[in-house]
Formats: sequence, structure tokens, C-alpha cells
Amino acid sequence: MTNHHQDQQHENWVHRLDRSALWTLVGVIFLFSFAVVITLIAPRYVDSTWTSPSSPYQFQMYEIQDPNFYLSSAATGGVDLMYVHHLKNDFTLLSFLESQYLRIVAPPELERFITRYPEEKIKLASHLLLLREPEGEMRQKADHLREDLQKEWTAKRKEEGKETGLEKINYQIFELYDPKLTEAFSIEPAGGILQNWVDANFEIIDESVKQPYHQDYGVVYVQNPREFRFSTFHYGHDEHWRYDPMGRPVKNLEELKQPLFGFFSRKELISFGEHIFAIEGCWYCHTDQTRTLIQDVVLNGSDSFPAPPSSANEYIYQKITFPGTRRIGPDLSRVGVKRPSRDWHKSHFWAPKTASVGSIMPAFQHFFDNDPRGTGRSAMGIPNHQFEAIYQYLMTKGTRITPPTQAWWLGKDPIQTKEIIEGQRKLQ
Ligand code: HEC
Repeated sequence: MTNHHQDQQHENWVHRLDRSALWTLVGVIFLFSFAVVITLIAPRYVDSTWTSPSSPYQFQMYEIQDPNFYLSSAATGGVDLMYVHHLKNDFTLLSFLESQYLRIVAPPELERFITRYPEEKIKLASHLLLLREPEGEMRQKADHLREDLQKEWTAKRKEEGKETGLEKINYQIFELYDPKLTEAFSIEPAGGILQNWVDANFEIIDESVKQPYHQDYGVVYVQNPREFRFSTFHYGHDEHWRYDPMGRPVKNLEELKQPLFGFFSRKELISFGEHIFAIEGCWYCHTDQTRTLIQDVVLNGSDSFPAPPSSANEYIYQKITFPGTRRIGPDLSRVGVKRPSRDWHKSHFWAPKTASVGSIMPAFQHFFDNDPRGTGRSAMGIPNHQFEAIYQYLMTKGTRITPPTQAWWLGKDPIQTKEIIEGQRKLQ
């Protein structure tokens, strides 16, 4: 009897244990999912800017993960530098601009994207369209166009009483086509093709593009993107490549980084820029820190648009940091926000006094040349990969700040901080 009773008690105890273990498990699962909801899912609904870029201070942090700009350092068979653009639908503004000797043929539905020679207002589209050597029907259209242009040219020469038979103008004719892709690559010789402003001389023809200026986040304006095809040739024992519209297309960005091409990604340019910053001694005259002092946050921002002081997370991608001690020139920790213009930096490094009267900053003309390897100089001042590297490096300054940092600084909640940063709310 006692034995039996003990057995029963034992069974109850086991039962109770089972249930409490079950409840413990349920509790753990509940707490865990609660934590996941609170930390990972809920913030998106509270304020989307916690998980996506919202201010000029942040956007580049996301761009680093997603480089859209590649630069060639390889011999191309010519002397010009070449850029490869990583194009994205609804992301890159493109223009298809004719010149006197470069003309474009297209099927009727794409006609409206072409800026005809000598039209003055440049049309910009966010549709991902590309240029290629004319194919099929378009080839005939191109041949006709070439004949017509040739006749026109000859007639004009006759009219002016000049000789006609000797030379023939080499008209380049491309076909504008829809590659039906969301992403693509395109190549362009250097020389002012990557623009960073859109003014009254441009017309954005897509209704979908709400941002009026391309300096808004993530939009790169590229002129005349051509499909990236190439062919290889041998010079001595070495294999080289050249842009060739009849060649084979590049497979992916990884292929561009192979030794044959030797392209730099934006990320690599940035780390090379850091190296340049060290060896050129920029840190001798420039600091790279916004201190907590009011003169710093106002100097790097303004009364209503103050710059947050530097924090550790801004330097996480750097191998060397240059906080600096002397300010012979201005602090550079927010220069990516303060001076985003590539053209400004071009003229400033070429001749600091032209961009900034009375500047004592030395000129850095070895950032410019005709030679992709950066060995020669030219009066043309075409920026080479050293310029691109230092420019891309400077553009990371002040653009890697996350909202929690700003909230911490202002001692306010992130939503208010965001409004302050975007100028919708005044700082009390
Ligand atoms: C001899 C000191 C000196 C050195 C070295 C120097 N700078 Fe400067 N820098 C200045 C001065 C002074 C100014 C302010 C006048 C001007 O804008 O040119 C300036 C301005 C700038 C600006 C504009 C900043 C702003 O907020 O307006 C940038 C960007 C810059 N320098 C980058 C560099 C880089 C990159 C290097 C190295 C490759 C460098 N500087 C080397 C003295 C120097």
C-alpha cells in the first residue's frame, strides 16, 4: 500500500516536472521571439530610417556595400583612362547624347531617349538602356544614315569650295537598345562623363524619377553608356585588352578584377585613397575629427544643420586613422557632405588657388595625366586613378554616421534627430 502510494506520488512528480519543463520551453520561445520582434522587426515599423539610409550623413555607408563605380588601371591599347559603370535600373540617370560624328539609331519606342545633335537640352532617363554596334534591321538603318550624312558632308564641302574626294568622315553610329536587364555594365573613356549636377540644361524624362537632382542619394548620371565588350591582343609576351563593340561581353564584376583587366572597385579605391592621404602628408595640415565643441559642429555643419561629432564607428573601415593635431587647412571629417562635387575637387587639386583664393595648399598635379598608370603629366589634366582614389576616400568623410550616434549626441530620440538633420525641426 505504502509502496503503491509512493509510486503514485512519483508519477505525479514526473508529470509536474514535464509540464513545468514544457512551460519553461514555451517561455523561452516566447521571450526569444519577443526579443527578435523588438530588436529586428519592430524598428522597421517605428521608423524605417533605422534600417535604411535617411540622411546625407548615412547614404554612403550603404553604397560601400554596393560599389557602382569601377576604374580601370590596365593598359587599354589607347592612352585614355576608361571607366566602367555599374548601371542599375531606376538608379542611374543616363543620357544618350549625339555629337557631330557620333549618331544613334533606335526603334521608334526608344527615340524619345535620344538627345539629337545639335539639340541643347540633354535628356536624362532612369531606364536601363545601352548602346551597341547596330544589329539586324538597325544595321541597315545605320548604313542608310551613314550614307546620308556622308552625302550631306560632301555637299557642304562643295558649297564651301573645298576638296571632297580625298577624305571620308568616320561617323560612329550606335544602336540604342533595351537590354531588358535590371543591372548592366558599361564603359566610357574618361573626360567629364560622370556628372554630379543637373540644372536647367537637363531634362529628366521619366515620370518615375522624383528626385530633381542627381546629387540625391544613389543616382549617378552617366553620359552615353556603351555596352561593355572587349577583345584581347598580344603585345610582346603580354596579353592586353581593348574596348571592342564586336568583342565578347564581360561576365561580371569579378571578371573585371582579374589581372587581365586590373580594375579597381570603389572599395579598393577608398583604401588606396587612405594610403595617398598618408604618403602625401595631408594629415600634416588637415585634421579628421569633429570635436564635441560647438565651433566644430557648426563649422562642419551650420546652425540649423549641425554636424555630429566624430564617433568610433565612422573609422571602422579604415586601416589607419588620422585624427591630426593641427588645422592649417580645414577639418576634413565631414568633407563628403560639405563638398560632394567631383568637379570642385578636380579644380582644387589641380590648382587650389582657383577653387579657393589665397590657398596655401600645394597643387597635386600628379593626380592628373593621360596615362592610366599615373606616370606622365598632361596639360589636359585628366584625373587619374590617384585622383579617383583620394576623391572616393574623401567622400566617405561624414557619410558613415548612423542615426543612433546622432541621437546620442543630441540626447534626443532618433526621429527628432532625423528631423533636425533634415532641417524640418530647429535645434533648441
Ligand atoms: C601645406 C598644408 C596643406 C597640405 C599638405 C594639404 N592641404 Fe588641403 N588645404 C590646406 C588649406 C590651407 C586649405 C584651405 C584653402 C583651400 O581650400 O585650398 C585646404 C583645403 C582642402 C580641402 C577643402 C576643404 C574644405 O572644407 O573646404 C580639401 C578637401 C583638402 N584640402 C584636401 C587635402 C588633401 C586630400 C591633401 C593631401 C593630398 C591636402 N589637402 C594637403 C592646406 C593643406
